[in-house]
Amino acid sequence: MNFASDNVTGASPEIIAAIAAANHGPAMPYGADEITRRLEQRFAEVFECEVAVFPVATGTAANTLALACLTPVYGAVYCHEEAHIATDECGAPEFFTGGAKLVTCSGEHGKLTPEILAPRIAGAGVVHNVQPAAISITQETEAGTVYRPAEIAALSALARQHTLALHMDGARFANAVAGLGCAPADLTWRAGVDALSFGATKNGALAAEAVLFFDPKRAESFGYRRKRAGHLLSKQRFVAAQLEAYLADDLWLRNARHANAMATRLASGLAALPGATLLHPVDGNEVFVALSERAIERLAAAGFGFYRWGEAPVIRLVTAFDTAAASVESFIGVVGETLGSVTKR
Ligand SMILES: Cc1ncc(COP(=O)(O)O)c(C=O)c1O
Repeated sequence: MNFASDNVTGASPEIIAAIAAANHGPAMPYGADEITRRLEQRFAEVFECEVAVFPVATGTAANTLALACLTPVYGAVYCHEEAHIATDECGAPEFFTGGAKLVTCSGEHGKLTPEILAPRIAGAGVVHNVQPAAISITQETEAGTVYRPAEIAALSALARQHTLALHMDGARFANAVAGLGCAPADLTWRAGVDALSFGATKNGALAAEAVLFFDPKRAESFGYRRKRAGHLLSKQRFVAAQLEAYLADDLWLRNARHANAMATRLASGLAALPGATLLHPVDGNEVFVALSERAIERLAAAGFGFYRWGEAPVIRLVTAFDTAAASVESFIGVVGETLGSVTKR
């Protein structure tokens, strides 16, 4: 019944079991444990390339510490105006980069394009200006849409042209991979992504994300930055255990496929109702829908959880690995009763 966020969920039983399994005997601290060592190999298999892997406990730490490796303190990081790094991280990117500037750009359905970015990338070599350093995109985006490999490659071509790094906030990376059905490599290094904040918490982990660098050279200062930021966990084995279980037997993709299927059903059910308008294509596990005030109030009174989005009668619905199909049907039913059950042609 709670569609407020994929953060409202608990954790997958497989993840809890992995934490319990890691809770036997001693293990070397600060990432020198066996599970962390295995993790690097596992990520290399999943991404089909050598990769530097740094587990952290929050997405904000992943994003900000990754960006800190990709920009000088006087750099500019280009991102969407609704990007989590710009709206929901309390200035952490600016703080941990030592003062780099986030340059925000608007773009339809949460996406950036080379056409939007190109005119904004300016000031290189001018002492008065921040120096273009990186582009950061979110996958899936804050509007619930997903960048296709060709769209990422186009952004990376622009990045290369200006010697910028390309960062991906993959808090919902699994939903993007599951939605597109393509290889993780196709959405990252093969399309020119340099660093990925690989999310797991929203999709079944308890508290586990990983920063991946596809060019280990770019990762040279990460270990020091993570420690300095207070994000190097002494008992890192418990974070690594979550990530290992997350990748095992494709749990991450199974969870994401379920979440996406629930969002697709919500979207199709709502789109068929008069007076319900989807604001963005539904590519992953988020649905943005404009309804009447009356319908929103009825839904709240019926006990559904969701966030209102902005001033207009718009709500955001997020599905997750444990969303029940019955909750989705019941949600559509309440909206249908309130708006009238005549379906659109
Ligand atoms: C797009 C995006 N990036 C990153 C995060 C990670 O944030 P947190 O620091 O809360 O784990 C979130 C969480 O809501 C998110 O939606």
